[in-house]
Formats: sequence, structure tokens, C-alpha cells
Amino acid sequence: MNQLTEPSFSKADFGEKFVWGVATAAFQIEGAANSDGRAPSIWDKFCEKEGAIADGSDGQIACDHYNRIEEDLDHIASLGVNAYRFSVSWSRVQPLGDGAWNEIGFAFYDRLISGLERRGIEAHLTLFHWDLPQALDDRGGWINEDVLDCFEGYAREICLRFGDRLASICTFNEPWVISILGYEQGVFAPGVQDRSLAMQVAHNLLVAHGRSLTAIREINTDLSAGIVLNMSPIYPASEDPLDIEKATIDDGLLVRWYMDAIFHGRYPEDVMAFLGQDRPTISNTDMSDISQPVDFIGVNYYTRNFASTGNPWDASSTGNQVTDMGWEVYPQGLCELLTRLHQDYNPDKLMVTENGAAFKDVLKDGRVEDIDRQTYIERHMAATLDARRMGVPVDGYFIWSLLDNFEWASGYEKRFGIIHVDYETLERTPKRSFLWLTDFFKNKG
Ligand code: GCO
Repeated sequence: MNQLTEPSFSKADFGEKFVWGVATAAFQIEGAANSDGRAPSIWDKFCEKEGAIADGSDGQIACDHYNRIEEDLDHIASLGVNAYRFSVSWSRVQPLGDGAWNEIGFAFYDRLISGLERRGIEAHLTLFHWDLPQALDDRGGWINEDVLDCFEGYAREICLRFGDRLASICTFNEPWVISILGYEQGVFAPGVQDRSLAMQVAHNLLVAHGRSLTAIREINTDLSAGIVLNMSPIYPASEDPLDIEKATIDDGLLVRWYMDAIFHGRYPEDVMAFLGQDRPTISNTDMSDISQPVDFIGVNYYTRNFASTGNPWDASSTGNQVTDMGWEVYPQGLCELLTRLHQDYNPDKLMVTENGAAFKDVLKDGRVEDIDRQTYIERHMAATLDARRMGVPVDGYFIWSLLDNFEWASGYEKRFGIIHVDYETLERTPKRSFLWLTDFFKNKG
């Protein structure tokens, strides 16, 4: 193997309290879809739909993390991070999303958290990373008010059982993706195509976020609680006034919809005007429920976006490298985004809760020489440090992802892991990026 290159910064530059982590999500890695009382989620059903998943795959086995948890925890420990971000599969702990709890399901997360504790790694728990119990979708899903109550009950139960053992709790991962990709574009579960429903869902998720925060605070007053948003700077693709206008609205839908609601208790006026009849119905107390203080905003950043009213934007036209997802590599965008969030909203704390890249990895002689991923991660760490140096309170950085895994509608074709997974044998092989990171975390402190 080539010499592992030295980054231009050290772990110490980020300060002693900086949270270094690696992230996953339940549906993408756990598998064991029918084991020990777990019931289907909307993603299990969506995978059955003809053409929904690029390679026709599903989450039945995934990385079989459910049965290989000790091995995976050992990998996290050997990486040398001090934090792990994971999500709970709601239908594993409460199969119907309402009513009876499943003790065997809770036992799995107890094992996971205990395993982290034994290894001295902080647990960062996400309550909802897209896998709504199918039984709740059968009742209308996020459109039905009852489901918001169910979510609050679920949040409460997780806190009662695990709250005092967590370093942080996140209510929702990427409500923009849940609502827009799931209910407007229909490319993610539950596969609906209706803008007006999508915007009602975008609102209802925020209401559920706010109400569950109240529940979390009642139970664990000291637990750091927040939400994770996917955000990017958005540029117009040309000087055309239509593109410029679209860039503003896209930013409104992606960033300001959530940040304005949480920090200012209102939705952006330009977006509301743009939505017209597709505006959500908002009840009296909703905006005050939504705008309660959060302890942190989690930022998932992969690339910047361009808004085009003409031809679809081609990321390669910037001349920058493009990942296997077709996403431009643009580390400056992360610094720009973090600085902007700090200036516009002044959150107490930001964490980069996901950052990483898919590349066409090749496993050869027991090695994966993913130098592109290593460089991607290094440059985004540097961008995070730049933001810190400019006074932005960004206190954590989590790599997406620990393992190659089920990349939603792309199935298993896109590999984001710093550990390679052979889907035939389920064998794990740490990639070059993993070894480089191990060196960075262990030796350069
Ligand atoms: C996300 C996702 C991950 C994806 C990743 C790469 O939160 O968008 O949490 O589930 O796998 O973003 O697309």
C-alpha cells in the first residue's frame, strides 16, 4: 500500500471536546427484517414495488448488522472515534407504531448502547431515519394527526429506556427528503407524488419534532436534543433571472423552511407565496410547538446544488470531480453553509452529522484503495476546521458511513462505507480511508 498521506491539520486543531464520529441508519444496515418481532416499515413495502430500487434489492439482510453487532462495534472502536450515530428502527421496538412494545427489539438497542459504553464511545441516537412502521402508513402516515401522537409516544419511550445513556438525541433525519422525495417526487417511500401532501408532511414532521422535544425535555432535562437537516448552498445555474429566482425558492424549501420555522417560528414568506394552494394547513399552536429551542442542528452535507429552469444541471460542467452519485466534490460549500447558518440563525451548536462519498471501489487482494474517498473526507474535515476558525460553533463531524450499505433507491450499487461489505459473504474489509482515519484519530491527537 502507498504511504498514508499526512493531512495539513491535526486532530488537536479541532480542540479536545470535538466529537469525532461515524454514522449509519437502521434500515440501511440492520437486515433481520423479520426477526424477533420486527414488523415491516414503509421501506420494506417500497422495495417490493417494481422498479423502485435500482438493483431490485431490499433491506431483508442488508449488512446483517443485527447479527454482527459485536464485530461492527469492534470496528468502530478500532477506528478510534469517540462517537457513533445510529438510528432506531421504530417497527422493531413497536411493530405497529402504536400500542404494544417489543422487548426483544429494545434488547438489541440495549446491547448496542452497552457495547458502545464498554468501548468508551458516545451514543448519538436518531429516532426517525425514514422507516415509518407500515401499519402507521396504512392509517395515512404523516398526514394523519394520530401519527404525530404515536411519534411522541415512541420518543417518550426511547427516552425513558435509554435517555440517560445517550450523548444526544435527534428527532428527525432530513425532513426535506422524507417529504419531498417521499411525497412529491415519489422516488423514496412511500412513493407518493403530490406537492400539497408533501408540504403538509413537511409541516407535520416539524410539529412532531416540536412535540417530541417537549416530551424529551420532560424526561431527560440534560439530554442534548436536536434535528438533522440536509442542506447545501444553492447557486443559480446561469444569469437568467428565472434561474436566480429558482435558486432563492429552492433555498427557501431546503434550508429556510426548516431553519426559519425552528428559529423564528414562521415559514419564509416567499416560499409560502410560491406554494399558493399547496401551502400546508397550520393550526394555532403549531408554530410555537415547532420553534422551541434546540441544543443542536445536525448538518448533512455532500455537495452544493445548482438551480436550473432549463436543462437539468450537469455537475461535471464545473470541472470538479464528481462522485459515483453524480455529486460534485465541493468542500468549500460546507464551510460556506456552516458560516451562513451561524450568521443567519446563530444556533448554539452545529454538528456535521453526515459527510462522505460513494465511489466505485474495487476489492483486490484484500484491499480497497479508496484514495478518492480519503481525499474527500480530508478536504471536508479541513472545511469544517475553516468554519471553526471563523468562529462557527461546529463541534462534531460524523463520517457517512461506517459500512457500505443499502443506499435507498440506489440499492447496493453505491458504496459509501469506509468499510467494504461483500454482500455474498457479508465479510467486512476496512478500506484505505478507514486506515488513514485510524492513523489520524489515534496518532495525531
Ligand atoms: C441521508 C442519509 C443517508 C444516505 C446518505 C447518502 O441522511 O441522506 O442519511 O441515509 O445514505 O445521505 O445518500
